[in-house]
Amino acid sequence: MSDGVELQGIEADAVASVREAATLAELEEARVAHTGRRSRLATILAGVGSLPPERRREVGQGANAARRAIEAALEERRQALEAEELGERLAADRADVTLPGDPYPLGALHPVTQVRREIEEIFLSLGYRIADGPEIEDEFHIFEALNMPAGHPARSSSDTFFIEGHPDTLLRTETSSVQIRVMETGEPPVYVVAPGVVYRRDDVDATHSPMFHQVEGLAVDEGLSLADLKGTLLYLFRELLGKDREIRLQPHHFPFTEPSMEVHVSYVDKAGRSGWLELMGSGMVDPNVLRAVGWDADRLTGFAFGGGLDRIAMVRHGVPDLRLLFENDLRFLEQFR
Ligand code: DAH
Repeated sequence: MSDGVELQGIEADAVASVREAATLAELEEARVAHTGRRSRLATILAGVGSLPPERRREVGQGANAARRAIEAALEERRQALEAEELGERLAADRADVTLPGDPYPLGALHPVTQVRREIEEIFLSLGYRIADGPEIEDEFHIFEALNMPAGHPARSSSDTFFIEGHPDTLLRTETSSVQIRVMETGEPPVYVVAPGVVYRRDDVDATHSPMFHQVEGLAVDEGLSLADLKGTLLYLFRELLGKDREIRLQPHHFPFTEPSMEVHVSYVDKAGRSGWLELMGSGMVDPNVLRAVGWDADRLTGFAFGGGLDRIAMVRHGVPDLRLLFENDLRFLEQFR
């Protein structure tokens, strides 16, 4: 067989297997087999130098032409395979924009936060201001100024968290201390509500927690009466719990109000039986409290009220156990979305 014929065969074989390569990996195998160091073509090219001079040119040109043809076929096939693989990858990656999206987890406000914010809104609409005070308080603001002098039973350390090494400093047991903070730093008249956290030395059970939430209210002005207090509370509970609510004020005792009353709010249970829920304490600000902050107790009168936000949230949603509000179990909290 002449070299020319052999070269034609080599080229035809090579081009055929290049065209058959179905993947870039197969194409690489074909390239190595047909143009690599051990290929028949490489052997012929390597032997050109030892051919008789009159044949070198012909065989050399023929072998180089075959190699260029094979390389052209390789390049053409490589481009085709690359385009194919890219196309496949794009097809596989394509996003179906008509599929429903991943649900975005929607958060919600904690039921106690919802109650707090609603109460804030109700009082802001009445012209009140939101006030704040420290959770770590001193005895003046939590006891003395609230008409609980030394020796008063409510000061007993058994139901109070004191700060070690600071006998005068304690976690506030009620938001009523904010009444004093507000009056000390302001001028009459004042109309404020002060939501916040309070602490008591209680064991945890279905209705007790050493930490819970209250909201305090204070109005001091000229000529305020018990009728203003009752109208304000009736408005609050009708806005918060429904237009058909009634309230009832029942005589009670708090050191910082005189007279003092428990606030009872009407409810109807699922069986249709009606009753009263005790939701707040309230009263007319004791003149001693006004005097403690240097205000004119002959000219000014005021009313105050305070109660538990957690309890209102429980009543509103029929939550049977206070602990549910503080355990952060999502199965419980998700129901308030
Ligand atoms: N501070 C009282 C408590 O924790 C509630 C309270 C009663 C607040 C009467 C008041 C009030 O402002 O006038 O039980």
